[in-house]
Amino acid sequence: MLFKPITWVKKDPEKSNVFWPSDELKKRAWVNADSIYVEAAKDRVAFWAKLAREGIDWFKKWDEAYREEMPYYKWFVNGKLNISYNALDRHVKTWRRNKAAIIWVPEPLDEKERVLTYFDLSREVNKFANVLKTLGVKKGDRVGIYLPMIPEVQIAMLACARIGAIHSVVFSAFSGKSLQERMLDAEAKVLVTVDGYHRRGKQITLKTEADKGIEGTPIQKVVVVKRMGMDVNMVEGRDYWWHDLMKNADSSCEPEVMDSEDILYLLYTSGTTGKPKGVEHHTGGYAVQAYWTAKWDFDLHDEDVFWCTADIGWVTGHTYGCYGPLLCGATMLEYEGAPNHPQLDRWWSIVEKYGVSVFYTAPTAIRMFMQWGEKWPRKHNLNSLRILGTVGEPINEEAWLWYFNNIGGGRCPVIDTWWQTETGGTLINSLPGIGPFIPTVAGRSFPGTNHDVLDESGSPMNIGEGGYLVQKSPFAPGMLRNVWKNPARYKEYFSVYSEKYYTSDGARRWDELGNIRLTGRVDDVMKVAGHRLSTAELENAITSHEAVVECAVVAAPHEIKGEVPVAFVTLRSDVEPSDQLIKDLIKHVDATIGPTARPDKIVFTNELPKTRSGKIMRRILKSLVRNEPIGDTTTLMNPESVQLLKDEVGYKE
Ligand code: WTA
Repeated sequence: MLFKPITWVKKDPEKSNVFWPSDELKKRAWVNADSIYVEAAKDRVAFWAKLAREGIDWFKKWDEAYREEMPYYKWFVNGKLNISYNALDRHVKTWRRNKAAIIWVPEPLDEKERVLTYFDLSREVNKFANVLKTLGVKKGDRVGIYLPMIPEVQIAMLACARIGAIHSVVFSAFSGKSLQERMLDAEAKVLVTVDGYHRRGKQITLKTEADKGIEGTPIQKVVVVKRMGMDVNMVEGRDYWWHDLMKNADSSCEPEVMDSEDILYLLYTSGTTGKPKGVEHHTGGYAVQAYWTAKWDFDLHDEDVFWCTADIGWVTGHTYGCYGPLLCGATMLEYEGAPNHPQLDRWWSIVEKYGVSVFYTAPTAIRMFMQWGEKWPRKHNLNSLRILGTVGEPINEEAWLWYFNNIGGGRCPVIDTWWQTETGGTLINSLPGIGPFIPTVAGRSFPGTNHDVLDESGSPMNIGEGGYLVQKSPFAPGMLRNVWKNPARYKEYFSVYSEKYYTSDGARRWDELGNIRLTGRVDDVMKVAGHRLSTAELENAITSHEAVVECAVVAAPHEIKGEVPVAFVTLRSDVEPSDQLIKDLIKHVDATIGPTARPDKIVFTNELPKTRSGKIMRRILKSLVRNEPIGDTTTLMNPESVQLLKDEVGYKE
């Protein structure tokens, strides 16, 4: 056991469910006083510059900490660094050389874990960096990474960063078609993938999806990790086994000197249109925010074992399942498989076995465990846990308290971190040594960042009122710098309110302290089990099926997943609705986007509610699936369609 159980979280006697850190936690924490917020707010640029100096090793210091020419901004102008050097080399020079960097836990119980020390990880990254070079990858080239949760994914990412190549990781549960769309847009030259992996007791083949994804793209070389030893198709002259290439690779590769504003990675994410956007993160600012947020939010110390359960295919996996903890020299746990395999206590057995002390997951997972019952975590000694985190969607009070009590044993603060793919790192959350921890209230802006809640006209809301969350200048260093090949979409973030970054999230100012409650997306982006999906992408996928004429997708509330997509579908007149067709459509969504995008329900309808100008009224569909008042339907071209749909979805007046 790493930590003794200590009861340091006290309830605020004045208010219900407001928790404050104990003296013991304050003493241990990197930051433990409100003064940090005050100090940072005096001069935010100077504050970040200080953090950049203290947290990151630079080959050359910047000339100017921040430069803004709206809607563009730069951090650490002309500063030179390499993020893989910061995540590896500087630790290898110290006692951390032999410290575990990654503890990897395979899904099958009869397979052994793999532990990579900082030295091991550094050696593998250097070797793979040289492999990429021999495959012709140069600074600025894009490399696609389509890998599940195995250490090769971090190795590949860091190897790209080492030689200045831009990685673009695609979630392994996305289909080959999704991969293809992203690789085409990124114009990737090389793809790193795997034969297959374990998931919920099944063997999943990925190489066949990868093959589909490569078609028609500029990808010339494919590196395939042998995880399973499956019999997969290998194309001569194009496909190479990872282990073959690594066998003779040189184990030292000089890190490329990168400019602070050189692109580190692209990560495709969903917006309100049908096409995912390649969010661009640049090296210097991202490194600084990843380092300090990992360190302060989770109060990471050398003895910690940090487990972020997010898949590497999402931004949380990038920043807290790779860069953040490694920049801090922390020990990170990575688990290949499903939370419920072979039993519903798998996660808790991992926490116990490896003494996980900081645990970061999504509300949807917490609600799933709530439903499975307390007996599963109770089977295990979870006393090693010190800090809990959540991310991805608003957390309800019940889930927060369940997590706090049943997983954290009432000892561990729940750090509810609000952020986005675009922001690169966390932005709004309480800090463990400062608090307060209030269920459903994420917390304050991270020191040195500046948010506001505005009404439609741009006036700040009062305490207790809800509006739209924006970020104000100076923009946090880890924020996106562009949308790949699409500056117009980038500019949209700054065009809703002038000179401000618009988050598309609803929020409420909570108190004088500056605490903020996040209330969810206000655009057509859904969070399904924490996964970000766009209704437009899903509509495109469904309408591309030959039987479908028209389709509208809206998000319906769901007890565990937070939200789920419901699809309203109009079929071609010669096609009859059937259960088989529902199955076919779901298969089609699997093949077009991936199983995470599956509609929870498909409602066939001859007519979608439309305005007289022919626009589908999604607002009405939303109210229908949420059982909310429908409002005025008189402006509709076909108000009778609403009545029919009410019966279909079981709407209660
Ligand atoms: C939502 C995930 C409430 C929010 C890091 C945001 C949250 C979207 C929280 C971004 C939270 C994330 N409380 N809502 N703690 N964290 N969100 O890009 O709606 O996958 O806009 O990034 O998730 O999702 P993304």
